[in-house]
Amino acid sequence: MYVVPTAAIVPAAGRGERLGPGAPKALRELAGEPLLVHAVRSLWSAGCVDLVVVAAPPGSVAAVEATLLTAVEDLRLVVVEGGGTRQASVAAGLSAVPGDVEIVLVHDAARALVPAEVVVRVVDAVRAGAGAVVPVLPVTDTIKQVDADRVVATVDRSSLRSVQTPQGFARAVLESAHSAGHSAGGHDATDDASLVEAMGGEVVVVEGSTEAFKVTRPLDLALAEAVLRSRPNAP
Ligand code: CTP
Ligand code: MG
Repeated sequence: MYVVPTAAIVPAAGRGERLGPGAPKALRELAGEPLLVHAVRSLWSAGCVDLVVVAAPPGSVAAVEATLLTAVEDLRLVVVEGGGTRQASVAAGLSAVPGDVEIVLVHDAARALVPAEVVVRVVDAVRAGAGAVVPVLPVTDTIKQVDADRVVATVDRSSLRSVQTPQGFARAVLESAHSAGHSAGGHDATDDASLVEAMGGEVVVVEGSTEAFKVTRPLDLALAEAVLRSRPNAP
């Protein structure tokens, strides 16, 4: 067990519009349990997180708390209501992180199946002194820049990376980045490391995992079911 107190904020308040009509995405089921339960279990099972802070969809705080405490053994949990953007949801979670916590992860509920080794790599890098850490994968598609319906250029993908979560931060770095982002008038950053970059901070990369993909569109749910079935302890 790590000595430095570590909390993980899980923004889970999005509507899941790209998944189609239905409950908020984090509460949609995958193999009989909400995506959020899978995401929190994945983080907790890594063994290096001491507290999970969930930013829940509006009106569902009590239900989310009860569901998670039943589903995940020994979980230490705080649930707050999320905001209108991902950035606002993370900020709501951050304000509920207790004062003694020194390392803060931010992990999308929608990346429900992140393997433990990715969580450990991120925490280890922050513990080794990085202020901000992101798990990444190489880009596999050829990427083109377009203007309306015409290709302008093919981008050299060798230096491009897809970025995943959990992203890890020294607590003070994440707090400064969020307050600077807020003061600058931006409210819709799609990840937290970009707020650190915007204030000139360094962001370190570690290896991500194809299994840490984000459930975004309907096909991703089918892929997630297949990943779960492929795991050794699958029912
Ligand atoms: N999120 C959040 N609060 C918001 C918007 C998003 O906590 N107001 C969370 C989502 O619940 C998700 C993560 O941020 O776990 C990544 O966002 P995304 O994949 O875009 O989820 P949604 O916003 O729910 O999906 P969509 O954009 O398709 O509506
Ligand atoms: Mg969204």
